[in-house]
Amino acid sequence: MDARMTVGLLGGGVIGGGWAARFLLNGHDVRMYDPDPQASRKVAEVLANAKTAMQALLTADLPAEGTLELVSTPEEAATGVVFVQESAPERVDLKRALLATADRVAPPEVVFASSTSGLLPTLLQSDMRHPERLCVGHPFNPVYLLPLVEVVGGERTAAATLDSAVEVYRSLGMEPLRLRKEIDGFVADRLLEALWREALWLVEDGVATVSEIDDAIRFGAGLRWSFMGTFLTYRIAGGEAGMRHFMAQFGPSLQWPWSRLTDVPELDDELLETIVTQSDEQVGGASARELERLRDGCLVAVLQGLRGQGFGAGRTVSAYEDRLRGAGS
Ligand SMILES: NC(=O)c1ccc[n+]([C@@H]2O[C@H](COP(=O)([O-])OP(=O)(O)OC[C@H]3O[C@@H](n4cnc5c(N)ncnc54)[C@H](O)[C@@H]3O)[C@@H](O)[C@H]2O)c1
Repeated sequence: MDARMTVGLLGGGVIGGGWAARFLLNGHDVRMYDPDPQASRKVAEVLANAKTAMQALLTADLPAEGTLELVSTPEEAATGVVFVQESAPERVDLKRALLATADRVAPPEVVFASSTSGLLPTLLQSDMRHPERLCVGHPFNPVYLLPLVEVVGGERTAAATLDSAVEVYRSLGMEPLRLRKEIDGFVADRLLEALWREALWLVEDGVATVSEIDDAIRFGAGLRWSFMGTFLTYRIAGGEAGMRHFMAQFGPSLQWPWSRLTDVPELDDELLETIVTQSDEQVGGASARELERLRDGCLVAVLQGLRGQGFGAGRTVSAYEDRLRGAGS
């Protein structure tokens, strides 16, 4: 998989553009289909940001950049490629039809992956002639910097498909997490949605503003999450007795009413307006691309710091650099 590949991308928005950057900067050629006439400009802007970030992050040279070709049908994007990554809007009917269309022209050995944030692969593969080749490869934004990609199969997915997808993602410097079973929302978005629901309630109840809620994460637990996650952090919080003590000390509080997770706040106009207004105040007029560059710079700093520790995502970056050096020598 380290050799130059040609891959097909279906959809070139936030996530498809990120995939384009990830593949191109790893020296692979990309054939992309997106009906948006602005897709070419948007992908070029994402690629420019990605290049800046990857060059700042890595101590190893990236291979010569691949070429991007925008094509006008999904069939063209799935022709002459070894791997197809679908990143179209999160609508099951649209994705099913798109995958079935591309599936009709690609030889059976071509692996298909969907970037869906939470739709079941069993549903997505249901109209395909070769359902065994479809899995979910759920990435995180920005795809070119964050290593995690959740890999999930459906009822009819072949084990070899999952193996191939894992191999492709690993060759791109990513950290594939192979899920044991399919479930709506997979693992990461289940966790994120729990936090998101709670955050919406805190705004709805007037407890905190959007920027205060962000502060509550970024000055505290968010820093720990970026390298140890929840379980390892809590084990350490249990002191010398570890997890057993932590569970004994904080287990009972789970029975107290600390959470409104079982309810969903109604997303009426008033709540929407509050969130949007507070969010606008929070960014003070910065554009989307400016915010992306700020985010990328911070992520590069975190990843470089973690690389120095040889831990978590820092270890993934080191392994990727070793791979790049090996491929270049
Ligand atoms: N945004 C995120 O943070 C994020 C993270 C992980 C996964 N995802 C998933 O990635 C997928 C894409 O999300 P996004 O955030 O990039 O959305 P987006 O709206 O930014 O991009 C979707 C793109 O698909 C294009 N499109 C529309 N119809 C199409 C079709 N028939 N064929 C091909 N392309 C088509 C649109 O023109 C647009 O450019 C979704 O399944 C989403 O759940 C999003």
